[in-house]
Amino acid sequence: HRLEMALESIEKGGYEHFMLKEIYEQPRSILDSMRGRMIAESGHLMMGGVREYENKFVNADRIIIVACGTSWHAGLVAEYLIEDLARIPVEVEYASEFRYRNPIITEKDIVIAISQSGETADTLAAIELAKSKGATIFGICNVVGSSIARATDAGAYTHAGPEIGVASTKAFTAQVTVLTIIAMIIGSKRGTLETTRVRQLIAELESIPAKVEEALKLNDQIVEISKKFKDATNFLYLGRGYNFPVALEGALKLKEISYIHAEGYPAAEMKHGPIALIDEQMPVVVIATKDSSYEKIVSNVQEVKARKGKVIAIVTEGDTTIPSMADHVIEIPETSEHLMPLLSVIPLQLLSYHIAVMRGCNVDQPRNLAKSVTVE
Ligand code: AGP
Repeated sequence: HRLEMALESIEKGGYEHFMLKEIYEQPRSILDSMRGRMIAESGHLMMGGVREYENKFVNADRIIIVACGTSWHAGLVAEYLIEDLARIPVEVEYASEFRYRNPIITEKDIVIAISQSGETADTLAAIELAKSKGATIFGICNVVGSSIARATDAGAYTHAGPEIGVASTKAFTAQVTVLTIIAMIIGSKRGTLETTRVRQLIAELESIPAKVEEALKLNDQIVEISKKFKDATNFLYLGRGYNFPVALEGALKLKEISYIHAEGYPAAEMKHGPIALIDEQMPVVVIATKDSSYEKIVSNVQEVKARKGKVIAIVTEGDTTIPSMADHVIEIPETSEHLMPLLSVIPLQLLSYHIAVMRGCNVDQPRNLAKSVTVE
C-alpha cells in the first residue's frame, strides 16, 4: 500500500491532485494537440484523417456532432467555429438523445464524435446508429486505440496525454484546439476563409500556450475568491457567443467536484427565467471578454448588479468598464474570439478546483461518477 501511495505521488508530479496537475499541463497539452498540424507563414494546415475525407467535408450538407458532458461542450464551441469559418450547418447532439429519437441521417452527413476516453457507451451507440444510415463518421478521441477510435471511419487524436481526474480539463482544451484546426481546414478548402485570415488564426493559436501560462498565474487570486464563495449553495455562469459553452463547462466543473448546484446559461436567456433567482446570495460568474457581444454582456452585468447578485467577472486585460461594476475581476490575456474558450475556461477550472478542495471533496474521484461512462 505504501508503495502504491508513493507511486501515485510520483504520478501526480508534485501536485496535490491529478486535476490540478492536468490543469497546469495545458500549455503543453494544447501545444501537443496542434503540433505538426499547421504552418503560420504559409497558412498550411495538415490533419491526416481530414485529408482522407476532404471532399466529404467540403461537400457535406451538414455536420452532426455527438458527444456527452464536457466533450459535448467542446462540440458546441465547434458549432460556432465551423458555422462561422466554414459556413456548413452544424447540429450538436447529446449522444444519448440522438440515438433514441429516430434522427434523420443521410449519406451526405458527416458525424463528428468527440470523446476523451473513447469508451462512452452513449457516444459509441450514436456512432453505430449513424453508421447504419450511411453517414461518414469522424472521431476525435484522446485515448489511442479506444473503442470509439476504432469504430470511426477516420479521425484525429487530441494528444493531450492521459487524463486521470474525473473532471475533464486538458482534454477539453485539446478537443477545442483540434476542432479549431478542422474548422480552418474546411473553411480554407471551401473558400469561406481567406488565406490571410488562416495565417492570422494560426499565429494566434500558436500564441495560446503562452497565454494559458499567463492565465495560470491567476491561481493565487482565484484561491482568494474561492474562500469567499466556498459556502455558496448555488452558482450561475453566464456567457455569450463563444463563451456560452464555456459558461456551461464552468458550471459542470463546479457541480461535479464541489457538489454545489450550478447552472450555465447564455447571458441573454437570463431575462426569460433565471433572473428570478438572483439576490444578494447568488454568485454569478460572467465571462465577459472583449468580443463581438461585449456591449450586450455589459448590460447583462448591470441587470445582475441591479438585483444585488455577486458578480465574478472574467474580462480581457485592460478592460475598465466591467471592473467598475463587478465584485471580483479576473483578467485574462486578449485573443481572437474564436480562440477565447481556450483561455476563458482556465480560471473556471481553477475556481471549481479550489472550491472543491476547500469543501473537503474528493476532487479526483467525485461521488457517483466514473472517468468513462460505459453504461447507458
Ligand atoms: C467531464 O468533466 C465529465 N466527467 C463528463 O461529463 C465527461 O466529459 C463525459 O462523461 C464524456 O466523456 P468522454 O469524453 O470520455 O466521452
